Amino acid sequence: MKVDQPTAIIQPTMWGIFFEDINFAADGGIYAELVKNRSFEFTQPLMGWKILKKDATEGVLILNRGETNAANPRFARITRTNSDEKFGLENEGFRGMGIKKGMTYHFSILARHMESTSLTMRIELVSSNGGPIGTASLKTEAGDWKRYTADFTATATEPKAKLNLWFEGKGTLDLDMISLFPDDTWKNRPEGLRADLVQLLADMKPGFIRFPGGCIVEGYELATRYQWKNTVGPVENRKTMINRWNTEFKHRLTPDYFQSFGLGFFEYFQLAEDLGAEPLPILSCGMACQFNSAEVAPMDQLEPYIQDALDLIEFANGSADSKWGKIRVQMGHPAPFNLKMVGVGNEQWGAQYIERYQAFVKRIKEKYPDIKIVTGTGPSPDGKFFDYASKELTRLHAEIVDEHYYAKPEWFLQNATRYDSYDRHSYKIFAGEYAAQSKSTVNPDNRNTWKCAMAEAAFMTGLERNAEVVSLCSYAPLFAHVDGWQWTPDLIWFDNLKSFGTANYYVQKLFSNNKGTQVLSMLLDGKPLTGQGGLYASAAFDQNKKEIILKLVNASDQVKNQKVLLESKKRLNPKAVLSILKSDNPEAFNSQEQPRLIIPVEQELKLNGKTIDLVLAPGTFSVIRITQLKYP
Ligand code: AHR
Repeated sequence: MKVDQPTAIIQPTMWGIFFEDINFAADGGIYAELVKNRSFEFTQPLMGWKILKKDATEGVLILNRGETNAANPRFARITRTNSDEKFGLENEGFRGMGIKKGMTYHFSILARHMESTSLTMRIELVSSNGGPIGTASLKTEAGDWKRYTADFTATATEPKAKLNLWFEGKGTLDLDMISLFPDDTWKNRPEGLRADLVQLLADMKPGFIRFPGGCIVEGYELATRYQWKNTVGPVENRKTMINRWNTEFKHRLTPDYFQSFGLGFFEYFQLAEDLGAEPLPILSCGMACQFNSAEVAPMDQLEPYIQDALDLIEFANGSADSKWGKIRVQMGHPAPFNLKMVGVGNEQWGAQYIERYQAFVKRIKEKYPDIKIVTGTGPSPDGKFFDYASKELTRLHAEIVDEHYYAKPEWFLQNATRYDSYDRHSYKIFAGEYAAQSKSTVNPDNRNTWKCAMAEAAFMTGLERNAEVVSLCSYAPLFAHVDGWQWTPDLIWFDNLKSFGTANYYVQKLFSNNKGTQVLSMLLDGKPLTGQGGLYASAAFDQNKKEIILKLVNASDQVKNQKVLLESKKRLNPKAVLSILKSDNPEAFNSQEQPRLIIPVEQELKLNGKTIDLVLAPGTFSVIRITQLKYP
């Protein structure tokens, strides 16, 4: 292997993450809000809420002020005439609320009552057996809508707590935006993100983050597409909308899945910045999901969609004087987010997509010639739609083209050479969604097995060897709540208190944390290792750390002995570091019960001068880091 002769540059964006609000990834997941349906905007206004002790004279009335507040029309009116009975509202959270002993919780509410009232509010967290585990009181003043807050400390840890609001005294009170957040959010940002989940992302050191999806971008119909402008500004003005995964799978219906947009485009950009990842927003191109309604905006009515894209670039990068840049500044980010690329459409196909893509390109490039445009080839990595899109996008000199692969592990092994034959002078590849499926795509019995993870690692050696063509890659989907998922497999699983990475997560992390800056050519009998005897390999050089990085997958059931000759002008540190990910059982997977069953283990490897003798056990993914010494 010729260490001093790199063959291609590896883009800093090479290994990234794909975020979509599927499987409770946002609401109920990374967005740390604990109250579900906080503003009564779900189709059923009291979904997630229970009325505690109602009688004929008192209760909850849902009012709709749509004429004056279209973004947040509903609120609840509490009327209480009988102060002897207990009366309250209970929120069940997202499959319960994860509460930690000793943690401070921040409660907030918008309330109003025009006349003075003796009503007070007692806020009470209760465990799954009904016992109180935290309490606070609130008194409101007569007057128009006002935000009230109360902090309290939880006295017990509980994965499925509920929040009770008891109304004591007599009177009428209007309520909206009933909210509860833990104190320990990511970077301690008030009403922010769940720290353990963001930490798992940060540990991956992703080169980019694609958001907000996925099919969620497209909508079931155009009316329910993702519209970023509805997700910025004060949270109470972000119009809650049904989540398209609510009804997508009959076998995993999730009637309580909505989007509060508490995690909106400002927060996505901020998350990208926190992670040191390039933001990659994907926008509706005027085509609803072609698996659903397949509605298309006519070409002469595409303007609002294109304008949304132009305005987004202004929101991210524009000055405080610009209309949308000003909103970013008002939201607390004076500096631009330095957006460099946008995606036009998610998984679209057919001539109508190409037509719309061209309209977007023309207008975006006219105004922002430096913004790179990501386009796509549809849901499959082959077939008639794929072939058509690839041909058209080549003809149109597309810049970055998204390809998706949800397939059996065997497909991933067979496709380690997929990009060997791609044109080096055409578009760059964004491997934007991929995951090996242990059963079949969208099968609820899919598991994040070691066999799948290992097949992805083998395939990823092919992505890395072809970094000249492939510039962005991301596994999909990213997150899944153990009680609220629709799609499996997923990279990271969590419940209300804990989270864990799958074997697939550790594969991604190993690639990303050992990215390197240039591709090296590692050959056996003059050829790259692309499955000979079950072996797959790639190699990289990290110019900053002066490290040679080898990645090898032994997908066979036999031990493989490989001698690697490292032809380097510089001397090599005789002590190399091996990170090994393995399992004896291809069907094994990390779970809530065994979250660390398959995790990388580090050990030292000895070099013999410039050779390294590798003993690759069956069913292993090995990453070896060898440091060049300063002097020859
Ligand atoms: O990752 C889940 C879904 O798979 C995405 O939303 C979509 O783009 C693809 O079909």
